[in-house]
Amino acid sequence: MTTCRIEELSQHVDQEVTLRGWLYNKRGSKNVQFLMLRDGSGICQCVAGKKDVDEATFESCQKLTQETSLSITGRVNADARSVGGHEIHITGVEVLQTSEDYPITPKEHSTGFLMGHRHLWLRSKKQHATIRIRSRIVKAIRDFFDHRQFILVDAPIFTPAACEGTTTLFEVDYFDDKAYLTQSGQLYMEAAAMAHGKVYCFGPTFRAEKSKTRRHLTEFWMVEPEVAFADLNEVMDLGEALVHSIVTAILSDCQAELEALERDLAPLEAITPPFPRISYDEAVQILHSKGIEFEWGGDFGAPDETAISEHFAKPVLIHRFPAQIKAFYMKEDPEDPRLALGYDMIAPEGVGEVIGGGQRAESLSFLQKKIAEHHLPEEAFDWYLDLRRYGSVPHAGFGLGLERTVAWMCGTPHVRETIPFPRLLDRIRP
Ligand code: 4AD
Ligand code: MG
Repeated sequence: MTTCRIEELSQHVDQEVTLRGWLYNKRGSKNVQFLMLRDGSGICQCVAGKKDVDEATFESCQKLTQETSLSITGRVNADARSVGGHEIHITGVEVLQTSEDYPITPKEHSTGFLMGHRHLWLRSKKQHATIRIRSRIVKAIRDFFDHRQFILVDAPIFTPAACEGTTTLFEVDYFDDKAYLTQSGQLYMEAAAMAHGKVYCFGPTFRAEKSKTRRHLTEFWMVEPEVAFADLNEVMDLGEALVHSIVTAILSDCQAELEALERDLAPLEAITPPFPRISYDEAVQILHSKGIEFEWGGDFGAPDETAISEHFAKPVLIHRFPAQIKAFYMKEDPEDPRLALGYDMIAPEGVGEVIGGGQRAESLSFLQKKIAEHHLPEEAFDWYLDLRRYGSVPHAGFGLGLERTVAWMCGTPHVRETIPFPRLLDRIRP
């Protein structure tokens, strides 16, 4: 007997196979039972006719409960009308474990309840589709950089210093000392870029975000490329090409998942380069033209980002922010020293900032001055300053947030559903 996965059924038409999985749903009458089996790769309708199976088998089918694990044997029938295009005509059923009172039923549940049952909620249709899309996005990102000769360099999780400001640091005891969970691998990628030229890291990062929003997790994944000799324009090009390659992969390989999520494809299909690029000053003008109050020098809040992005049909890149609201490591604009050569990419549909990055300061004295201005401890950055002592070169990079990208592709309003086990201000269980 061949054991196979539901996604492989097309190779076994008219053969007898065994599928192993969980009962997703069931309906039936006294003469026939329709079992919806899911096995992770898909969902398949399995039919048991009273006259086709022995009495014990038919009775056990009638008693099956939601999420019972089981093994079903039967003949594969190609049937275009069925979910997935195949149907199984059952010859035998083996119950592995009977699931009683499965808490997630087809009725509506509150988000709090579902989040508390995240370990089970992952089996539900939309959650299943979302995690598959996340997996495909990760692959698209890895392929993008690997095909462009970037070297994957893993950044540490325990770090001695802040990269993105001291207000969101998670402090941990480190033997007799203290350490912080990394906010970004960037500083380490700058060191790695001086060794390999083009590098990226891809891993979890941590920020003690103290407000509840639909865009912030306390643990999120970021991919961070860093390129020696690159400038701001080159990393804007790179960010645009990366996002385009992600959308292309999802549209071509995740049709079933997008359908399960009822995702409107038109906004995704519209994401084609070139993306509009505007300066911070122009972004402020857009806000003012819409009657939104905003003072030059401030940072854009979520409603500002949404208002700016609504001005364009595509993602928009905003560059040259006031230096005072940006991190210490940004290079100043030689044309206007009030500005930093950084950029953000703002995604449409209310998703907001998906990329933050730019060109890095390469001058030792400038960085020493900035570290002092930001009240950062210079000793913690001594190793970083070495990069400006021993062969400093222009370089640039960015970070793309994975969960916001997944939310964008899936059309999911809240990032909590885009990571298998979200960590939020008020949640670290399960
Ligand atoms: O703009 P950010 O803070 O940039 C950096 O960390 C740079 N050091 C990256 C670099 O240049 N190598 O964060 C980058 C991206 C944001 O645009 C957003 O997509 C995501 O990371 N992000 C978050 N995603 C979920 N939850 C949070 N709390 C996030 N904070 C940032
Ligand atoms: Mg940012």
